[in-house]
Amino acid sequence: MLKGKHIILGITGSIAAYKSAVLCRLLVSAGAEVRVIMTPLAKQFITPLTMATLSQHPILVDFFNPENGEWNSHVKLGEWADLYLIAPATANTMAKMATGVADNLLLTTYLSARCPVAVAPAMDLDMYAHVATQRNMNSLREDGVHIVEPGSGFLASGLVGKGRMAEPEQIVEAVKAILSEKKKSLEGKHFLVTAGATIEPIDPVRFISNHSSGKMGYAVAEALAERGAKVTLVSGRTSLPTPDGVERVDVLSAEDMWQECVARFEGCDGAVMCAAVADYTPCVVAEQKLKKGDDDMKIELRRTKDIAATLGANKGGRLLVGFAMETEHEQEHAKAKLSRKNFDFIVLNSLREAGAGFRGDTNVVTLIDKDNVEALPLMSKREVAHKIVDKIENLL
Ligand code: C5P
Repeated sequence: MLKGKHIILGITGSIAAYKSAVLCRLLVSAGAEVRVIMTPLAKQFITPLTMATLSQHPILVDFFNPENGEWNSHVKLGEWADLYLIAPATANTMAKMATGVADNLLLTTYLSARCPVAVAPAMDLDMYAHVATQRNMNSLREDGVHIVEPGSGFLASGLVGKGRMAEPEQIVEAVKAILSEKKKSLEGKHFLVTAGATIEPIDPVRFISNHSSGKMGYAVAEALAERGAKVTLVSGRTSLPTPDGVERVDVLSAEDMWQECVARFEGCDGAVMCAAVADYTPCVVAEQKLKKGDDDMKIELRRTKDIAATLGANKGGRLLVGFAMETEHEQEHAKAKLSRKNFDFIVLNSLREAGAGFRGDTNVVTLIDKDNVEALPLMSKREVAHKIVDKIENLL
């Protein structure tokens, strides 16, 4: 279950940092992609070379590389991660996390992380038992941080008591549990997702289509599946691999997509309509390749059926989410679609925004329902997908 998961491993200045090497190794061998951030003091306890070799990536310590000024973006790291694990976490780092101090890369990344965060405390028994440390750990718990409880036993100081970092194997189990917790929230639900561009044939060689890559829809299907939902992905043309645990139905034309969606919506709890469906299709599809002549050519087009509107008119208690890609009067047009197609909410992306739209890995969207307009900042399509699924969860 850790296969392909993005994990940031934060290491702070504690003698238990020697166990971070084994921890990193276990995460990588379980299939996770691991990026290591160290505090400056952590480098005294375990070398960057060891951690870079085990994680297969250079380790990160500073805000930028002093040699060439290259910026280590804590925002991008925070977006990239599925989980931020700080092991070992010292009393000092936990105190800073609890109060929002951000004086190193490990801490700024904590403030930017949108993923679950876990800490594995490591310190001497008296520091651990101190009322200030316990108060800070309680604050972190209230802030939603997972604490992997330290064990009792022999401590580096020579004393015996509670404070030694949990063993790497236990931390890996805790990581799995945290990631699957998120996964279970939509268990028992079934969603239909449309994605990609439809292909409207003109003749056996040519077609009408659009620039949609399918990335946004595939990210939504993946995010729903990650949270335990059963997902049927009705997909137009795309070159993307099928996300894990998703049932994929390939279609070509808008008419094929309409047929599949209408037939499959019945057993679903909701649908997310991400596909870029052609609005018009050739009235006649030539059986043979059309030969070019000297004159201009006209192709007569007829309207396709609106899949979203059909599902919207028959949705009953089911949830329906739509997309709107606009180039002008964005909110006005999106709100009109919201009511015309009977969506519960609509995801608006404007082609005027940098970093939004076709093909790229990022998007800038606004989530609009009948009462609220929520503008989200630039984020990865995967992150946008999770925001959409968060809203779906709230509405279910
Ligand atoms: O009207 P417009 O095409 O801009 O609406 C966009 C929304 O409607 C998207 O959610 C898209 O997937 C859906 N749609 C559809 N069937 C169509 C046209 C659009 O499901 N024929």
